[in-house]
Amino acid sequence: MASYNQLIMFILFYIFMLATWVVGKPQVPCYFIFGDSLVDNGNNNHLVTFAKAIYLPHGIDYSSGPTGRFCNGRTFADFMAENLGFTSEIPPFAFSNGSNILLGLNYASAAAGIRSETGWHLGDRITFDEQLQNHELTVLIISDVLGGYDLASTYLQKCFYHIGFGSNDYLNNYFMSAVYDTSNMFTVEEFTKVLIQQYRSQILKLHSYGARKVALHGLGPIGCTPYEMSRHSSNESCVEYINTAVQLFNHHVKLLIDELNNDTSLENAKFIYLNFYDMSMEAIQHPSAFGFKVVNSACCGTGLNNGALTCLPFEVPCRDRNEYFFWDAYHSTEAANKIGARRTYLAINQSDVYPFDVYHLVQL
Ligand SMILES: *[C@@H]1O[C@H](CO)[C@@H](O)[C@H](O)[C@H]1NC(C)=O
Ligand SMILES: *[C@@H]1O[C@H](CO)[C@@H](O)[C@H](O)[C@H]1NC(C)=O
Ligand SMILES: *[C@@H]1O[C@H](CO)[C@@H](O)[C@H](O)[C@H]1NC(C)=O
Ligand SMILES: *[C@@H]1O[C@H](CO)[C@@H](O)[C@H](O)[C@H]1NC(C)=O
Repeated sequence: MASYNQLIMFILFYIFMLATWVVGKPQVPCYFIFGDSLVDNGNNNHLVTFAKAIYLPHGIDYSSGPTGRFCNGRTFADFMAENLGFTSEIPPFAFSNGSNILLGLNYASAAAGIRSETGWHLGDRITFDEQLQNHELTVLIISDVLGGYDLASTYLQKCFYHIGFGSNDYLNNYFMSAVYDTSNMFTVEEFTKVLIQQYRSQILKLHSYGARKVALHGLGPIGCTPYEMSRHSSNESCVEYINTAVQLFNHHVKLLIDELNNDTSLENAKFIYLNFYDMSMEAIQHPSAFGFKVVNSACCGTGLNNGALTCLPFEVPCRDRNEYFFWDAYHSTEAANKIGARRTYLAINQSDVYPFDVYHLVQL
């Protein structure tokens, strides 16, 4: 049953990809990315931080080697750009010289969160608020290029925006009580509530800069990452209390999406949710259905589950990288990213997206 569905999914997907190639034009004029290390493609390279990946074996399977991506190869955003028909990947804001700015930019920064203190123990990072400031600059440049704010605004409304924050607010904040105060200040329910309130106003700010087609990343099962499993000496099963917290956050993101989509003052804006939690759990529970062999240990790392220490410079990673779900202690492999991008771009399984997929969002 699963393999039949997968076959149909593959066939449909390639028909759509073929259609894109034939038409030869991206389905949206531009794609803007906001987020953390899951989609960072080099914005941290020049920052003073431990949260960088500009060394091998990161990028070992990427055409130009290490770029700052926390992955052996391409990220979710790289695959999504391809699915949308872009012929090149969306460049990092930090290295943009303005030439391709009309195609979009990637503002994502490893260790960044919704809250500004999140991740500070790792060093510099570009928080969501700062990523929004960077985007405001981009909007001004685009206004110059196109000849006015109104023209820019019309243009920016056609773009696709994807936002993925929250992982670090739990990993590198709430659940790191030796460094951060938040778990003394809030119960996990309260913390989730204030986090969502802040996220809501940040998303509305992006809307005020013209965003109308917006996808929000749900959080993956952080309790199943090699890092958390190693930290809890739980090498066989996922850490439940962390997964419970993450699911609570995801539940509230979906409620937020309902609220925003129902808000008549946000006319023409549509928001969707990408369900990385269930997609990842499905792969972790049925690895062979997705071509994976190892789902409880990182391809690159040291210690229990290869998750005690994350992938170090020049460490030798696993050989069969397509058989691993986790690249390092926190991040998925290129193989996993490709599946996630395909399933959220064109959803065959309705539970992968809410209320509809990226393909239908960008048609609006
Ligand atoms: C800007 O960057 C692009 C590659 O991203 C490069 O092809 C182009 O020559 C650069 N332009 C200038 C003026 O540096
Ligand atoms: C998990 O622990 C058990 C016993 O403690 C051990 O036999 C097994 O090899 C470990 N698995 C991993 C992936 O480390
Ligand atoms: C938004 O609308 C949907 C369907 O139109 C409805 O099911 C949902 O309860 C509404 N949510 C909110 C928060 O108003
Ligand atoms: C759809 O996704 C859910 C959650 O990942 C999973 O439990 C279910 O088996 C999937 N259904 C099909 C038909 O693949």
